[in-house]
Amino acid sequence: MDLFSAIDTEPIRQKMEQLAEQLDRLNYEYYMNDRSLVSDQEFDAMLRQLQDLEQQYPELASPLSPTKRVGGEVNKAFRQVSHRFPMLSLGNTYSIEEIEDFEARTRKLLDGTAFSYTCELKYDGVAIGLTYRHGRLVQAVTRGNGTVGDDITLNAKTIPTIPLRLRGDYPDDFEARGEVVYPFEAFNAMNLQREADSLEPFANPRNAASGSLKLQDSAECAKRKLMFCMYFLMGPDEALLPDTHFGRLDWARQMGFKVQPYIQECRDINDIKAFIDHWDRARWDLPFGIDGIVIKVNQTPLWDRLGLTAKSPRWAIAYKFKAERVSTPLQSISYQVGRTGKVTPVANLQPVWLGGTTVRRATLVNADFIQKMDIHIGDHLFIEKGGEIIPKVVGVDLDQRLPGSMPVAYVQRCPECGTPLLRVEGEAAHYCPNTDGCHPQIIGRLEHFVSRKAMDIESLGPERLELLYQAGLVRNIADIYDLRREQLIGLGTDATIQDKSADNLLAAIDASRQVPFERVLFALGIRYVGEVGARKIARHFGNIDALMAASVEELAQVEDVGEVTAQAVNQWFADPVHQTIVQRLRAAGLQMSGQWATASGPLSGLTFVVSGVFENYSRDGIKADIEQHGGRVSGSISSKTSYLLAGEKMGPEKRRKAESLGVPIISETEYQKLIVEAES
Ligand code: IVH
Repeated sequence: MDLFSAIDTEPIRQKMEQLAEQLDRLNYEYYMNDRSLVSDQEFDAMLRQLQDLEQQYPELASPLSPTKRVGGEVNKAFRQVSHRFPMLSLGNTYSIEEIEDFEARTRKLLDGTAFSYTCELKYDGVAIGLTYRHGRLVQAVTRGNGTVGDDITLNAKTIPTIPLRLRGDYPDDFEARGEVVYPFEAFNAMNLQREADSLEPFANPRNAASGSLKLQDSAECAKRKLMFCMYFLMGPDEALLPDTHFGRLDWARQMGFKVQPYIQECRDINDIKAFIDHWDRARWDLPFGIDGIVIKVNQTPLWDRLGLTAKSPRWAIAYKFKAERVSTPLQSISYQVGRTGKVTPVANLQPVWLGGTTVRRATLVNADFIQKMDIHIGDHLFIEKGGEIIPKVVGVDLDQRLPGSMPVAYVQRCPECGTPLLRVEGEAAHYCPNTDGCHPQIIGRLEHFVSRKAMDIESLGPERLELLYQAGLVRNIADIYDLRREQLIGLGTDATIQDKSADNLLAAIDASRQVPFERVLFALGIRYVGEVGARKIARHFGNIDALMAASVEELAQVEDVGEVTAQAVNQWFADPVHQTIVQRLRAAGLQMSGQWATASGPLSGLTFVVSGVFENYSRDGIKADIEQHGGRVSGSISSKTSYLLAGEKMGPEKRRKAESLGVPIISETEYQKLIVEAES
């Protein structure tokens, strides 16, 4: 007998099982019933205990453990899988008459049979299918093209309203379908954070939900606070399921799925219309977005009789809400200056009620937008709020235009500092070029520099920065590291900075000297260089000297760095003012280089450019695969490119460039062969 089998792991297994069950139950009560049975700290302590045990005894860890909810595993590639049952779409309409036609047609086809409808919400998110075997989640797949979708199981497991193990009775083999939505509150918070981190905010919760499900890092997905709304239950053996849609959803609820309570059985067209009317208004009170309602024949045995059209079933239809639109007077236009100097015109509107909120402002995007819409002073503007929750200006209410009104003249000078604005060739926005003297730009850059994902100097909030600026102590990011204790104490109108807070502030500044190079690079606030871009650039060059010496062409070699970003980085470092700042930051002890494990593997030393559509991988998937095998992915072809990996529908330009530089072009199959050969 060897040493290990001598240890009896049974009590440990039992303990882990018990913790998992408790955590599952607490999760369920919290997300399904809005009930907290223990404090957050107690919950976290139990979770940590289970995590520790799983780390110690990985062979005892369950793939469905509640620890999977926090993510941590990385999606290497989103495998494409075929749906066992095709994911059909629904016929949809914006017209009540067509709903009347649908109802009349269905009644006629069913020829006197007694039946009813169910009306439910049409969730505005991303459709996924969940396969359960013996009460356990085995796979989660996106709709994709209805026949083939992406395997997103790891990310789905992080969504608390997706049960990992079912409760009570359940069919042994079935699929649950529903929509992953991004609730407004979490969506807004996430977008605010993205803006603070100078990342492009998501246009709407649906895009954000879709992007989140395709995140490589499941721990990142776990933070997104997505929700799953279940709306369909199906299985290989229909006889095992209830014979009404209503009954099926009810059963699903008992198994532990989140089924929204807003489902109603309707007898006739009047019931249906009342449901539509109600939700057309009430939808704005929901914590998540819906874009219509779905009407289904309730009795599932009738579905076969009604059959399918080319793409969608005849037993269901979606009614889509029209975007709500109002017209309201434009009172004035403000021009906001961001940290990069970009000017954004904003319409100040007469406050108007639209889709559940009062709208006072809406972006006018840029000068071209104002011109294209031909907005005049004093115009009434049409404002719309559709799936997007941000109100949009969609046109001018010409019926209300005053005779002789003048078109809006775009500002010529910066509203903050008076400097004449510039408009760069090929760019839509105007910029204030007074980078070092324009207040919102200076403060904006400082705020970005200290923000959480950059230098993370939490005790330097916007008010403090303003205070330091007004006192003449901080004008640029390097000045932060010259601050001395005696300068800080007593600052503020009521001497808000005291001994202790001065010490804390200096300690926080000091701690930021350890922030890794890639975040220092992000913190510099170079235009177009977000968190991810900074990481890729930092890893590519390894240190600031190599980066500062890089040409535009060399910069464009970095994966996901395009021509425009490369230009911006190159220009930023060419500016003597910035060079001085970098020298001062270096002297202050900030990290100006980093060490990353060099990838090893069969493809190490090889650089790939990826283009087109692939059969067995998504685009991101094949990139991840290259990196996983030790290769590097670059965004553009140069003489240093080892291979152009060509999928279907590759652009002709890439091919021409590769051919002219003598870069070999290989197919997906050849790529796979390359790995196998290199490995052997
Ligand atoms: S039922 C065969 N119910 O709307 C019927 N779909 O084109 C399957 N959707 O892609 C769909 N809420 O993702 C159904 N309550 C609901 C829904 C819903 C949203 C989505 C679904 C589908 C699209 C219909």
